[in-house]
Amino acid sequence: MNFPLIAPSVLSANFANLGTDIQMINNSEADWFHIDVMDGVFVPNISFGFPVIKAIQQIATKPLDVHLMIVQPERYIKDFKMVGAEILSVHYEACTHLHRTIYAIKEEGMKAGVAINPHTPVHLLKDIIQDIDLVCMMSVNPGFGGQKFIEQTYRKCSDLKAMIEAHQSHCLIEIDGGVNEHTAPKLLEAGADVLVAGNYVFASSNPTQTIASLKNLNAYTK
Ligand code: DX5
Ligand code: ZN
Repeated sequence: MNFPLIAPSVLSANFANLGTDIQMINNSEADWFHIDVMDGVFVPNISFGFPVIKAIQQIATKPLDVHLMIVQPERYIKDFKMVGAEILSVHYEACTHLHRTIYAIKEEGMKAGVAINPHTPVHLLKDIIQDIDLVCMMSVNPGFGGQKFIEQTYRKCSDLKAMIEAHQSHCLIEIDGGVNEHTAPKLLEAGADVLVAGNYVFASSNPTQTIASLKNLNAYTK
């Protein structure tokens, strides 16, 4: 795989013309589709659910990386598998029995991710880091696209990288929120593997080129 992986966030796409934006991502250098599911309880916003994800999956030619910002995500693991999720991330803050939930995701044949809010310290992942495929590190408070990047993320990202190496885990670090041409190079330097980008891609005049510029920032292979 060629790193960094780029995951444009569909939350910032044009929902009145979603097919066009999905095809744009299909034809770009993006690696994954980042799909944000919000329930209005875990976060103060509601996004979209199963019918929309299923429709995306029918035309998407790249993996769906689904980020659940919902309470009790364990209730819906099979449903997200059914609509085509390949990577499924649940929030640390939303799971009392995180280990059980991670294994339920893996049993369905998906890659399992854990998302952490900006205030959640990386060291809380120490006893789960060997069991997961991805950490989705929030660099904004989850709920909305287009927010300001939280600067402490660089340090958290380096700390997480060190933890992953110390445990010889294969887990990838994904950064979600406020990724742009200023933050992305520093994030890659701090050890990020996957960059989610919503507003930066979709508000640009040439989204395909913006995706390519992120992809070619600091390419490396694993
Ligand atoms: C925020 C979502 C993000 C969001 C990122 O709650 O999890 O995936 O779409 O958007 P930007 O890149 O605009 O900050
Ligand atoms: Zn997200």
